[in-house]
This record gives sequence, C-alpha cells and structure tokens, in this order.
Amino acid sequence: MTQFPQAFPATRMRRLRQAPWIRSLAGENVLTPADLIWAVFVHDGEDRMPVGSLPGIDRLSVKDAAKAAIRARELGIPAIALFPYIGADGKDETGSGALDPDGLVPRALKAMKDAAPEVGLITDVALDAYTSHGHDGLLDEDGTIPNDATTEKLVQQALVHVGAGADIVAPSDMMDGRIGAIRSAFEEEGFTNQMILAYAAKYASGFYGPYRDAIGSAAALKGDKKTYQQDPANSDEALREVALDLAEGADMVMVKPGLPYLDIVQRVSSAFGVPTIAYQVSGEYAQIKAAAQNGWIDGDRVMMESLMCFKRAGASGVITYFAEEAAVKLG
Ligand code: PBG
Repeated sequence: MTQFPQAFPATRMRRLRQAPWIRSLAGENVLTPADLIWAVFVHDGEDRMPVGSLPGIDRLSVKDAAKAAIRARELGIPAIALFPYIGADGKDETGSGALDPDGLVPRALKAMKDAAPEVGLITDVALDAYTSHGHDGLLDEDGTIPNDATTEKLVQQALVHVGAGADIVAPSDMMDGRIGAIRSAFEEEGFTNQMILAYAAKYASGFYGPYRDAIGSAAALKGDKKTYQQDPANSDEALREVALDLAEGADMVMVKPGLPYLDIVQRVSSAFGVPTIAYQVSGEYAQIKAAAQNGWIDGDRVMMESLMCFKRAGASGVITYFAEEAAVKLG
C-alpha cells in the first residue's frame, strides 16, 4: 500500500488540473499505440466479411491481413493477435483443421510476416474455432473435456503456429499443464525464441458473445465452458492460475475479460511483476460501439478512457478491437 503523509496543508488539487500542460506533466500514466495489440479476424474469402455484433470489425482475407500488418507497423502497433473464422464445412468433432500446416492461420501468418516482419504475431491456441461443438478442447461422450488428450492437440497446434511464423502463442483453452507441455515441445524442436502468452486468468464470461459469432462457434457451442474457465466470483484463484502458468514457462500472462476484471489485472500485475496483458473482449467493444451508435455515449472518448484504465491498473498491453482506431487518434 502506498503510504501518504499526514497532511498537505497548502495543497489544492485543482492547481494541478488547471490546464492541459500541467495535467500532462502531473499525469501518472500514458497510453501510446505501443500499448495496443490489434485483434484481427481472418477468413478464407476474398472480400471483407462483417461481423454483425462487432460494428466496424470485418473478418479479413489473407491478403488484407497482410495489409493490416503493414498498417500496424505504420501506426506503431507492436503486435497483432490473429483469430480464424472457419466455416461449418471446415469444422469437425476433433478440430482437426487446427493442426493443418497449410490451414488458414499458417497461411495468414506467412503472408503477414512477409509483408511486415517487424510486427509481432500472436496466435490463439485452442480448438474452438475448429470444432463442430465449439469447445476449446476435445469433447467426450459424457460431455467432459479430456484435459490431457486436449493438451496433446494444443501442443501440435502451437508447433504449427510457430512453424509458420508466430512469435507468440497464446493458449486460451485453460487446460491444466498445457503451458509446460508447449514449452517443452518448443525446447525440443528448437523454438527457443518463441514466447508463450498464457491466458492465465480467463473467466467463463458472457462478454465473449460477439467473438463466438465472429469465429462461428456461437451457434455450435454445446453447453458452456464453466468446467474449464474461471468462475467470475473468484479472485485468489486467478493468482494461483498465474503462478502455475509462470512456473510452467509462460513469458507473459493475460487477464480476460478486461474492464470488468480490472481488479484481477491490478492484483496480477502487482503480485508477479511480469508483463500482464489485458484483453478488452468482444462484448466490451460491442457495448461501447452500440451505446455510441445510439448517441448515448461519446464513443471516441469512452474508447480512449477504457484503454487508459488498463494502463492505470498496471497492464503492460491491451488486446483490443479498437487498436487501429485508437492508434489513429493517438497519432
Ligand atoms: C477461445 C477464445 C475466446 C476468446 C478468445 N479466445 C472465447 C471463448 O473462450 O469462448 C474471446 C475473445 C473475445 O470475446 O473478444 N479460444
């Protein structure tokens, strides 16, 4: 806890707020494009394919994803997080498409790396975009997700991603032990520079709704993810998850969703002192956009305020669908 002296007799807080120059001089946090990770959806079509529940966000073709990488470099956005939309035809029970070295994600990674090698590429390691049932792992007949069998698939998926040029893999599946398994596979295969951003504290949240539309898993999803994602009521559990993932070899950790879980961002960043990334998820974006479209809030202002709040809470970066828009504003 910060200790405050007993009194500041002659201090008037308003003196420090009277004009922009003194507000910026006395300010505690800054937001720059370097704090942003741009969340980008790709699909196998030629045209942009809008996502109804994410106004302003389209699924991009591989070609346009390469252009987005160039755009990120121009705007000073350090990294892109890539998410695939696989049509129903490409999905099956075991999510086999996730392991295809010539699949959509590997092709997009190669195109993006060729176009802008300076931009970091982050991939989502989980099976939900590829399974016909929409779960992040395999699904047994009794409705459970087998942890270790799923982890084996995730390891292969992560290897496919780094083989195609991913700099950071981000396992978002919440299986136990997957960080350690991926790390040892990377060591064995010589991927010693590739990083792991663990979705360490990932909650079973209703805020993921528009994302599930975007990757086409919403209609398919059987049941919910409460047996592997965290209970929104818990906070200490998040610290245990983070500790485990770090011990297993994660380089960075993530808290997700973002704004409703800022207390977790704050606890994790101060307890562990490792790069802590917050994910401003699809439902958070959609809420802001919808209210702005109705004229109920000033969308630009709330976008910038929400992003700054992550910095104040101690996040070193934010995955956000606002990245391009915010970076343009930050100029
Ligand atoms: C799962 C994954 C999800 C998100 C990112 N990776 C959804 C889920 O767990 O169902 C959600 C992101 C968002 O809502 O923006 N692989």
